[in-house]
Amino acid sequence: MEIIIQPDSQQASQVAARIVARTVREKPHAVIGLATGNTPLQLYRILVEMHREQGLDFSGVTCFNLDEYLGLPQAHPSSYHSYMWAHLFSLINVAKERIHIPDGLAQDIPASCRKYEQAIRSAGGIDVQVLGIGTNGHIGFNEPSSSLQSRTRIKTLTDETRRSNAAGFGSEAAVPTHVITMGLGTIMESRLCLLLAFGKKKARAVAQTVEGPVTAMVPGSVLQMHPRAILVLDREAASELKMAEYYSWVYEHKPGWQKY
Ligand code: F6R
Repeated sequence: MEIIIQPDSQQASQVAARIVARTVREKPHAVIGLATGNTPLQLYRILVEMHREQGLDFSGVTCFNLDEYLGLPQAHPSSYHSYMWAHLFSLINVAKERIHIPDGLAQDIPASCRKYEQAIRSAGGIDVQVLGIGTNGHIGFNEPSSSLQSRTRIKTLTDETRRSNAAGFGSEAAVPTHVITMGLGTIMESRLCLLLAFGKKKARAVAQTVEGPVTAMVPGSVLQMHPRAILVLDREAASELKMAEYYSWVYEHKPGWQKY
């Protein structure tokens, strides 16, 4: 795992944006996995700026989102479809037919999940998967106890996650109980996993993910088994890492060709 600690979330998002932008420049037909929530908002803002000001070209890029609430129509203001169009897709030149988000209204959920997995494989696999992390260590909506080899499927949200996501729905009771999410096995097949975490409330989950045992009870910890996982953190999210100073030293002394 590579741990990059930045003074604040803005600078951390800049690093993450450079990693995504480099992938898109080097591989115009790159496949990018995307997350929703508060964490990647600054990253998406910077990517939009790069598109507008530096001509970063998404016309050949294919996108796959991690997850979607079950039972919400695409047009629902709190659906992840709405989120993605508001914060990224309508602001860059990605082709509509190359945007993939799990179908929250799928009737045959297992078939829809199999189709999603097949679409990822047909696109050649994910080059960079952007991830956030829940306070309980979830990535995607793989809640604690998720199989480390799970594939895209229906999951039941924990009360902790429904509480965290209540703001978008007005109340915890209004947050859907079920979601469709890429599995941990699906995420682990991405060539690069890029996890962002900001703020004190993520510090425990980050410490468990990086320095704890690999366990289904902290789903993010499976990234310890990934050959290329980069975690970009602000200082607060890194505040419970025992080896924070070492990670910072390593990043500051990277040879030029390895820098982002
Ligand atoms: C969202 C997702 C989740 C979030 C996580 C953190 O697509 O997959 O794992 O990344 O719940 O959410 P925020 O960023 O709102 O703290």
